[in-house]
Amino acid sequence: MQQTHTETFLEKFSQAFQQKKLVKLTLSKPRDKKADLKNIIITPVNLKKGLLLNFVYRYSTRDITKNFDLEEASEKIWQAMEKDFLLADMYAAEENLKFMVSPSGKVKLKTHAVIAPVPVTFSHDRKKERLVEPENNIYLRELGVTNEKGEVKHDKKDKFLQINRYLELLQPEIKQLPAAEILKIADMGSGKGYLTFALYDYLVNRVGVNVEMTGVEFRNDLVKTCNDIAINCGFINLEFLKGTIEEAEIDDPDILIALHACDTATDDAIYRGIQAGSSLIVCAPCCHKQIRKEFSVTSELSSVLKHGILEERQAEIITDGLRALLMEAHGYKTRVFEFISTEHTPKNLMIVGRKISSGEAARDKALNNIQKIKEMFGVKEHYLEGLLKG
Ligand SMILES: C[S@@+](CC[C@H](N)C(=O)[O-])C[C@H]1O[C@@H](n2cnc3c(N)ncnc32)[C@H](O)[C@@H]1O
Repeated sequence: MQQTHTETFLEKFSQAFQQKKLVKLTLSKPRDKKADLKNIIITPVNLKKGLLLNFVYRYSTRDITKNFDLEEASEKIWQAMEKDFLLADMYAAEENLKFMVSPSGKVKLKTHAVIAPVPVTFSHDRKKERLVEPENNIYLRELGVTNEKGEVKHDKKDKFLQINRYLELLQPEIKQLPAAEILKIADMGSGKGYLTFALYDYLVNRVGVNVEMTGVEFRNDLVKTCNDIAINCGFINLEFLKGTIEEAEIDDPDILIALHACDTATDDAIYRGIQAGSSLIVCAPCCHKQIRKEFSVTSELSSVLKHGILEERQAEIITDGLRALLMEAHGYKTRVFEFISTEHTPKNLMIVGRKISSGEAARDKALNNIQKIKEMFGVKEHYLEGLLKG
């Protein structure tokens, strides 16, 4: 008898767990949209009783955690896939598996090879694994983050934390990228290259990915320093290029990064990512001047925005919100979030866009929303919008 997709999925899940390759399984998209249970997150956990599966049941207002052995867990997952959820995503060391049920009841199973396998850990009180180690780290020492003994300097603790957090956030995003022989990465406005070096080192030396990485920076001194450090570290596929975000000659990158590029330089970088069809665009915007200058609010909102600080914050929200919508209109699924607590840096917003195959309806919806928001704030044109219009 032919195996059903549910049976195949569960078999792969069991194999991944038994071979200690399972990272996570999530069950989401409740069949009943009003259901109180929103999703279930399942991860392996090493307890006194042995290796078990930890289930976190996420309800709208609370979480419930339970541990099961493989047999019980498979039974629970089977029931949940048949009755409660439309989507099951399994992340394992070498393969990601997606089980989807369409509203008409059609079932699909998709596998994706993993580019950057995540180290699998099972410890119950999972100690936070640091993705960047300060000891014997040449680039951190040469960039002045650590001292000669390999200790993080007191005044560089925030920077060190930021580097680790950044890699933690990129790790799952990179894992979802389509398989490629060489992963091309461009970091626009790479500055002193803290994050560029860390990402290269992590992907090449820790995960074993073939990477070609270019940092683009218009300051000659920074380009020279960074290229010297790359040579000292033996990072042969990392190069820093003197040039501008707008015009630097680079190959179309799979991942385009722009962290803290000032004002509209972030837009120039996003534009290049969209033009290149980059699979992933990651940016942390910096100052937001363009939209604030364009604000012309006549509605009741003007009584709130007469306070400079509120106008400034509102302008930031609209600038970045429109950036995300413009990316959505060009086939990206976006996430906007704070990537590190404001106590470490105020420039902590991150916009991540992952290229998906969205249709015309999604594009029209995004464009329509952009238009309405612009009208609400009297904005003629977002700088990125102008670039995209050509
Ligand atoms: C605030 S720093 C951020 C550096 C790095 N991305 C980080 O987050 O640590 C911004 C860097 O972008 C560079 N930059 C700004 N606009 C640029 C442009 N249009 N072309 C090239 N580099 C630019 C600046 O020289 C500066 O080094």
